[in-house]
Amino acid sequence: MCEHEREKFYITTPIYYPSDYLHIGHAYCTVAADVMARYKRMQGYDVMFLTGTDEHGQKIEARARDAGCTPQEFVDRIVEGPKGVKDLWKLMNVSYDRFIRTTDAHHVQAVQNIFRKMYEKGDIYKGVYKGMYCTPCESFWTETQLVDGKCPDCGREVKPAEEEAYFFRLSKYADRIQALLETPGFLEPASRVKEMINNFIKPGLEDLCVSRTSIKWGIPVDFDPEHVVYVWVDALFNYTTALGFMNGQYDDYEKYWPADVHFVGKEIVRFHSIIWPAFLMSMDMPLPKKIYGHGWLNLNGDKISKSKGNVVDPYLLAERYGVDALRFFMLRTFPFGSDGNFTNEALIGCINTDLANDLGNLVSRTVAMVQKYFNGQLPLEQQEDPEKDDELIAMACRLNHSYVEQMEKYAFQNALAEVFKVISRANKYIDENEPWKLAKDEANRPRLARVMYNLLETIRICGGFLQPFMPDTSAAIMERIGAQDHSWQSLAFFGTLPRDARVQGGAPLFPRIDAAKELEALAKLSQADQQPEQPPLPEPLSPIAFDDFSKVEMTVVKVLSCEAVKKSEKLLRFELDDGSGTPRQILSGIAKYYKPEQLVGKTLVAVTNLKPRKMMGYESCGMLLSAERGEALHLIMVDDRIPAGSRLV
Ligand code: MSP
Repeated sequence: MCEHEREKFYITTPIYYPSDYLHIGHAYCTVAADVMARYKRMQGYDVMFLTGTDEHGQKIEARARDAGCTPQEFVDRIVEGPKGVKDLWKLMNVSYDRFIRTTDAHHVQAVQNIFRKMYEKGDIYKGVYKGMYCTPCESFWTETQLVDGKCPDCGREVKPAEEEAYFFRLSKYADRIQALLETPGFLEPASRVKEMINNFIKPGLEDLCVSRTSIKWGIPVDFDPEHVVYVWVDALFNYTTALGFMNGQYDDYEKYWPADVHFVGKEIVRFHSIIWPAFLMSMDMPLPKKIYGHGWLNLNGDKISKSKGNVVDPYLLAERYGVDALRFFMLRTFPFGSDGNFTNEALIGCINTDLANDLGNLVSRTVAMVQKYFNGQLPLEQQEDPEKDDELIAMACRLNHSYVEQMEKYAFQNALAEVFKVISRANKYIDENEPWKLAKDEANRPRLARVMYNLLETIRICGGFLQPFMPDTSAAIMERIGAQDHSWQSLAFFGTLPRDARVQGGAPLFPRIDAAKELEALAKLSQADQQPEQPPLPEPLSPIAFDDFSKVEMTVVKVLSCEAVKKSEKLLRFELDDGSGTPRQILSGIAKYYKPEQLVGKTLVAVTNLKPRKMMGYESCGMLLSAERGEALHLIMVDDRIPAGSRLV
């Protein structure tokens, strides 16, 4: 029995803003948390792995309005719908134990209870908020926190805001927070501690605005319903409400809280290492044991975003390379605590080197040799050769320690490097022992069998330690080498595989990719995807009566002639057939979008009862209709068969 058995391990990811475009960067943290959860489960821990979605706030309200639906409909689609958040975790083989949505009734109720409790305690009070607000980040900032007058998190414009609001006495907890930040192991990597102390604690912690009156899509303060709870109060408490804290939905709070670790991206470390502990202190609740602030996956030096195209689409990448390769790549290539630059070259290189050449080859060569020399099953009789085998065996046995040491530090990259050192050593062991030569002499069979056994056993141990990273691949490896026991305990021992193990062949685990061809194919896909993002829709106008609409006369017209107006950069002068027999002259400010010769003969729509207006010395009798979105403008062109003079009704 494992010494840790049934000890609990509670790990969380940030809860995600519902976004209809989830890229590989979003998957980074959740895959890392999944690796940790699987690793701890393997060790026998009672794991609670929580993830979810952060569904309230101004941004969602605005996006739902743009999409023409209610905020609840909008978030439901993005969380539960095709290619939504839950779908992405399914694709990435994320084994979460619980998924919380901040619109869940039990969360809403608990947040109201929590807010009230902090208010009753005197830690929340009413005041007037005057400050700078960053809409995309939904964050309030003081003047001193701004960087060059912009939001210190995202670098975008902030605007002054003033409204009646509730405040949380963050300042009251400043000393305790500083001591907490300085506690070794609370905030990791350690470099983030200095950043928090210098940027936020030293300038002085100010009280935090924790309610808004200008937003409707949020959790109402139940004793003052004009106010909704600030999204970060709502969001942070998910880590406890998901366990049933202050609601009757679950009974897991006592068992799992405090969290063993919160994984968070570096830009939200401030919320987790300063504001979150202060809320918990106010509520007299235990503090999380660790906040781990990981780096970003960047693309060409910038945080990955939608505009970067489909080269970072997890669905596309998983389809081409497999989910395990993708999971592996993210954690093998970049140190978890620092930023990493995602490139297609790095991804393909990693698959070819580590997975196809080193791991895949070791498995397929070994299995093929057992099939060829022993008909797929090793004989019991095996002759040891300590001199030649000791180094490999010792390395495989030590992996148990070196891997765990790195995993416990969340150094995924190093843990994998340890496994791959042993894999490389095993490949070298094949070359040293030259099984193909041993096979030539019947007298060498016991030695040949031993060489094969040592290889299979090394593969079993390495494959076992790879399980949290590549669950499907690990299972496939065990099947091929006939390993029944690949439990955590068995990975510490060399010799668990039955001596007469039976192997099974199969397709290569990771076929080698032709890098040049693949990069070209990806470049083509990426070009096809580079559609510019649509600018936001304009604000809708207020409704008008039908009578008002019918006062506008809209007529189909044909362009008889068109020319640029001299000395004007904008205007084109049109002579139009409006069906009356007399050409109508209209001036239109569209020279930037059309050349005059493009328009002659076209059938357009004009407003024909506008009062005439003089422009650059010409009288303009009407207006041509066009459609505008952001910078783009298109004249409304209609079917050429419609006769000039037809009225739009
Ligand atoms: N809703 C908040 C978190 C509230 S937690 C109480 C939020 N959501 S988010 O959707 O914007 O981001 C979720 C996580 O994804 C963050 O930890 C963020 O750092 C991470 N990532 C988003 N893009 C990323 C990369 N390109 N690379 C790595 N992680 C990134 O913040």
